Amino acid sequence: MMRSIRYAGPLCGTIRLPGDKSISHRYAMLAAIAAGESRIRGFASGRDCRSTLDCLRALGVDTRTEEGELVIAGRGLRGLKEPRAPLDAGNSGTTVRLLAGILAGQGFPATLCGDASLSRRPMQRIIEPLRLMGARVDSREGGLLPLTLRGGDLKAIRYELPVASAQVKSCVLLAGLYASGATAVREPLPTRDHTEIALAHFGAAVRGEAGWILVEPGPTLRARQLEVPGDLSSAAFFLAAAALVPGSDLRLSGIGLNRRRRALLAYLQDAGMDLRVENESEQAGEARGDLRVRHDPGFLEGRLPAIGKEAAAAMIDEIPVLAVLGARCAGGLEVAGAQELRYKESDRLALLAANLKAMGAEVEELPDGLRIRGGKRLRGTDIVTAGDHRMAMAFAVAGLAAEGETRIHEAECADVSFPGFWETLAACTSGRCAGTGGGMGVREPDRG
Ligand code: S3P
Repeated sequence: MMRSIRYAGPLCGTIRLPGDKSISHRYAMLAAIAAGESRIRGFASGRDCRSTLDCLRALGVDTRTEEGELVIAGRGLRGLKEPRAPLDAGNSGTTVRLLAGILAGQGFPATLCGDASLSRRPMQRIIEPLRLMGARVDSREGGLLPLTLRGGDLKAIRYELPVASAQVKSCVLLAGLYASGATAVREPLPTRDHTEIALAHFGAAVRGEAGWILVEPGPTLRARQLEVPGDLSSAAFFLAAAALVPGSDLRLSGIGLNRRRRALLAYLQDAGMDLRVENESEQAGEARGDLRVRHDPGFLEGRLPAIGKEAAAAMIDEIPVLAVLGARCAGGLEVAGAQELRYKESDRLALLAANLKAMGAEVEELPDGLRIRGGKRLRGTDIVTAGDHRMAMAFAVAGLAAEGETRIHEAECADVSFPGFWETLAACTSGRCAGTGGGMGVREPDRG
């Protein structure tokens, strides 16, 4: 399906966003191997988290929805059942990499597969530590899906991650629940720590020690009542849109503000965005709060601070929309140390460069980043998303700040992390989230 975007009215009102995708995956998996029934409110409704639930059901886990809560009947650490068919993770890297850690500790074989995009993404990064722990892992040549795991009792390892990846870190920590002693991981740069936080909340012994993260094996994980906050990575598209469109004044309520992900907020404030955090609280070790963003014309006159490898690791999912902001802000944006973007749902560096250029921006694609000359007026054009949800949403934001019509192809891919994205965008640009605003910003044209 194609969606057409045009400059519309300001973004106004108050919106709630779907639950955090990263946290939802972890809560579902830990609930599945806990003892008792967990109840999860605000579980992410996107396709990726549905893939995780489908895989868990295929492993014998009962789930149901009751009064808006997802109820997961845990089977205990070793109670999962051998699946009858390969487990399909769809488009979701987090499903494959985290579940592989759990499967490596089970006493039965299981195969993980995924869609065409996921089948191109590197899995060697999890195969290596799982093999060091003693799991048998077979893959397609080059460390690609499908993966077949034959695990059981694992050896504890001390593992230094070669890449800054929360998914790989989480895979090793989850496998560590089934190891002979304490498993330790060290990451080259800090990445989101939802797994560490959730493990501790479910009752596992996790601790930090001289730069290492350690997990003890064999805990009895206890079912929990949980509430997933809104997804900060989804919020980023709305923060950017409101900052670009004159007259905008938008509130995003109940957004997750994990300490390893909120670098985005400080970054945007440093760049001069009128952005405030209000009503902060904490639940189950995860911070949350409301965000208020207002358009400030001065923001577009400025420059986005250069992004190096540390900032890239902290804002890895937000770089697509930051690149769009960089093309509009007078001073542009330089991104380096972000080669990991080439291994996401698409090669995001290549696709960002191609789409921004097609809109009239001056962009140089570097092996590990982008050099974006700012201050260009963007013009509407056809946007190739390659089915990558963040590409579709980033260029929807670009379309709101461009001349003419921007046509986002395969726009339905936004559902991977944000079902209702197009409707939410249309609602807050049309004043349906508040009493103000202009015309519809998002149209679904007749032809698909
Ligand atoms: C995620 C980690 C990141 C991120 C992805 C979600 C997670 O991936 O890009 O969207 O939930 O752990 P990497 O670990 O591959 O960097």
